[in-house]
Amino acid sequence: MKGIILAGGSGTRLYPITIAVSKQLLPVYDKPMIYYPLSVLMLAGIREILFITTPHDQASFKKLLGDGSELGCNFDYAIQDEPNGLAEAFIIGKEFIGHDKVALVLGDNIFYGNGFGSLLRSKINLKGASIFAYPVKDPQRYGVVEFNNDNKAISIEEKPEKPKSRYAVPGLYFYDNKVVEYAKNVQPSARGEKEISALNQMYLDDGALEVGVMTRGMSWFDTGTVESLDDATEFIRVIQNRQSAMIGCIEEVAYQRGFIERSTLIELSGKYGKSKYGEYLKELAKSI
Ligand code: G1P
Repeated sequence: MKGIILAGGSGTRLYPITIAVSKQLLPVYDKPMIYYPLSVLMLAGIREILFITTPHDQASFKKLLGDGSELGCNFDYAIQDEPNGLAEAFIIGKEFIGHDKVALVLGDNIFYGNGFGSLLRSKINLKGASIFAYPVKDPQRYGVVEFNNDNKAISIEEKPEKPKSRYAVPGLYFYDNKVVEYAKNVQPSARGEKEISALNQMYLDDGALEVGVMTRGMSWFDTGTVESLDDATEFIRVIQNRQSAMIGCIEEVAYQRGFIERSTLIELSGKYGKSKYGEYLKELAKSI
């Protein structure tokens, strides 16, 4: 399975913060936002990853993440010229995906929870598509899943004014190779975007969509507004400092998943200078 991280968009809800800097490069406590969704794909065991960014931000992402070889991965980069919607990722990424399955994670989504790694790895051999549902207070901001009395998903609507449930769809999606064909057929919505919800509805109509409810043991943040960005930062700070373990540490995940050797982990810790992040990696390398 391959992975795509969508890190485009203009981030206007965060202006003036995102006028000169990509939203997905902003700090969430002690590391750039993009580290979190990247660590999610790596945790799933995915090593071939495509970063889709705006034309002007691509150089910064390349500077930060390189070709991925240090992490035992292979990173590619592609451009989304205009914010035409999430489903466009599969049109832009067609060549990259080839004949494989693909996971998509949004560059501004943060996940944390017990058993999350095994949950992710259970999706690698999927048939059809697999998405999640997460209960929230403000479902109208998201894609919303409606369930029938048998807890079967029956509809998916993008940012509905009157949500049919409180279950939002987090920005983490797994698809078989048909997604490339389906994405071509998604018609732009009223806001002019090829919506991921329309794509998911296609799989649902085909009886090929699995919707897993994330329970309260999982934490999911998106960071689209100043408040949600601040909440995510506070959450990461509190959990990390209490547990002395990092969330979204890509080198740690690379080591845990067997992508790199211990000696590489030690080498990589040098890259972060005297920062707390670098110190953490040094301690980690000593303790294993
Ligand atoms: C996008 C998707 C939406 C999903 C959300 C998750 O919304 O369109 O279906 O629930 O991400 O973060 P956007 O970030 O474009 O508002």
